[in-house]
Amino acid sequence: MTDASDLPALQGSDFLSLGDWDATQFRALLEGAIDLKRRWRAGDRPRLLQDATLAMIFEKQSLRTRSTFDIAMYQLGGHSVLLSQNFIGVGVRESTRDVAKNLERWVDGIMARTYGHRTLLELAEHADVPVINGLSDLLHPCQLTADYITLLETFGTLDGVRLAFVGDGNNVANSHVNAAAVTGVSLVLATPEGFDPDPEILATARARGADVTIVRDPREAIEGADALYTDVWISMGQEEETERRRAAFTGYTVTPAWFDAMSPRGVFMHDLPAHYGEEVVEEAVHHERSVVFDQAENRLHAHKAILASVMGSTA
Ligand code: CP
Ligand code: NVA
Repeated sequence: MTDASDLPALQGSDFLSLGDWDATQFRALLEGAIDLKRRWRAGDRPRLLQDATLAMIFEKQSLRTRSTFDIAMYQLGGHSVLLSQNFIGVGVRESTRDVAKNLERWVDGIMARTYGHRTLLELAEHADVPVINGLSDLLHPCQLTADYITLLETFGTLDGVRLAFVGDGNNVANSHVNAAAVTGVSLVLATPEGFDPDPEILATARARGADVTIVRDPREAIEGADALYTDVWISMGQEEETERRRAAFTGYTVTPAWFDAMSPRGVFMHDLPAHYGEEVVEEAVHHERSVVFDQAENRLHAHKAILASVMGSTA
């Protein structure tokens, strides 16, 4: 192992929710990721996970998460094994517990994208190696790590940053709420009635000091914001609710016309994929104030930092 001293020393920990991390650890993770990005660009190739193996379980589709975890493992000297649900049938062909008990004998970590968050918790309970949440119906902490790297790079600081989230209070929004608690960023969510973030996550984050407000009018959230963020209205697994959701979210489509209401330094963010014509128009994603593809790029560096923190050696 080479120098991993800037990363939080969380060897053996799971990465399931930012709610499990504290402000110092999360800040160290962000700065470690930015350092790894700088070093990679300078030609430095720290092999922090030499010969390590990551199992990647996917119950759902993915472009960014799948590519960047695979590339991150390769660039850190290890490799990954792709296990799609069609092949392994977690909880269908074989119990989640037995999948965990097999994988722990072969690999150094498991990254899983699941429908139920419960599946991730079961994997983590039974596997003796770290389990990383690559998105569940409840949370998407890896995405928020990349998003906060992007915010730090854009503004140079997180102090005083105001973030507006417009849309569905689903997995990405829930992780925004958790992130607000560990970063001090002030978060205003504009969601239609009935689509608020998870009440328990909200209550816990507020108890940890998060400055989170919920409004119904998107314009109220965006006014003076430094970042305007949106996510799809119809998440993977919610396709049957398409018509109901399209009706509920009428008036929540982000267009560049809204950007003028942000602060002069305000940027547009989206985790992708985008459903054009629903939560956003194509011109917003490709606008000069959009940092959407920086977010996507930073998934790679975020994942390197997460992997090295939980799977790396302390030696
Ligand atoms: N944002 C994100 O997680 O992208 P994928 O679904 O393509 O992995
Ligand atoms: N909320 C979206 C995020 C995709 C990265 C979904 O769960 O489909």
